[in-house]
Amino acid sequence: MWALPRGELPDLVARSLDATVSEALANIERHSRARTVAIAVTVGESGLRLTVSDDGRGFPSGTTGRGLSAMKEYFAGIGGALTVNGVPGAGTTVSGTVPPGALAPPAVELPS
Ligand SMILES: Nc1ncnc2c1ncn2[C@@H]1O[C@H](COP(=O)(O)OP(=O)(O)O)[C@@H](O)[C@H]1O
Ligand SMILES: [Mg+2]
Repeated sequence: MWALPRGELPDLVARSLDATVSEALANIERHSRARTVAIAVTVGESGLRLTVSDDGRGFPSGTTGRGLSAMKEYFAGIGGALTVNGVPGAGTTVSGTVPPGALAPPAVELPS
């Protein structure tokens, strides 16, 4: 695991990332037979990027499931997007992005 961002993220973003990484790792444990797993979270001018990749058995394109759908929904819910790419015999990469505008902390409303 590397490249963890410094600084705060909005709570919903943090929780969505946590839920996505949990499901990705659960899939790796259950299905992948991987030897190596890499997790990266980076935040830069182009926004946030999460990558969880493994060198396991992969899966055929067209594979669907509740976990794969849930990860996409977590990212859609914070204004981002996520893809899951399995390559049979080679591994799987979960790749999510969130645009910079969705990472700004919510405006504080001052009491009048
Ligand atoms: N990292 C992975 N390595 C290999 N196969 C995977 C991986 N992630 C998902 N899959 C495949 O995609 C299917 C759908 O995943 P998911 O929607 O999470 O459902 P579930 O984990 O309940 O089977 C899995 O059953 C498995 O065949
Ligand atoms: Mg799953």
